[in-house]
Amino acid sequence: MEIKIRPFTVSDFEGVRQLWDICHLQLGPQDTIEEIQKKLKRDGNIFLVAEANNIIMGTVMGAWDGRNGWIYNHAVDARSRRLGLGSKLMVELERRLKEIGAIQICLLVSKGNFDAQYFYEANGFIPQEDEIVMVKKLKARKEEGKSV
Ligand SMILES: CC(C)(COP(=O)(O)OP(=O)(O)OC[C@H]1O[C@@H](n2cnc3c(N)ncnc32)[C@H](O)[C@@H]1OP(=O)(O)O)[C@@H](O)C(=O)NCCC(=O)NCCS
Repeated sequence: MEIKIRPFTVSDFEGVRQLWDICHLQLGPQDTIEEIQKKLKRDGNIFLVAEANNIIMGTVMGAWDGRNGWIYNHAVDARSRRLGLGSKLMVELERRLKEIGAIQICLLVSKGNFDAQYFYEANGFIPQEDEIVMVKKLKARKEEGKSV
């Protein structure tokens, strides 16, 4: 079975959302099609999918803020894990991020998600013990359009 790694297109959205749901990704208000379309306008060619026979088997969403490369929504269908697909997605994303100027890549991973932590450490990422993540929501989740 040939697995193709290519940029996401809007018609992939349904398959991608299904994959994210079954992989239990922690999704946020940024993961709707409307928000993803905003992202595609900025740096669409670093949101990658792995596809075989029209089925989405993996995703990794890269972002470039001009200073750091970021990785989000990295997932591989559970039946296809430990076959190198997660690494292939990462290698291609790293290549593309380097090409646009990134010299460092960051990501967030839940404290209890040991499988992902093992994966990222095996792929050269180093946990930053002296930093914490802080987030401010600019839009209320339930009351759309109302600032918080
Ligand atoms: C993280 C994830 C994308 C990795 O995908 P994958 O295709 O299984 O990864 P690979 O096969 O390329 O793994 C490469 C190496 O990472 C390490 N690794 C990957 N998963 C591991 C695990 N569960 N336990 C220990 N090491 C692991 C191994 O060193 C592995 O090499 P090996 O199989 O030769 O031992 C996948 O586990 C996944 O989708 N997890 C659920 C979603 C998720 O938590 N995403 C991260 C959000 S921050």
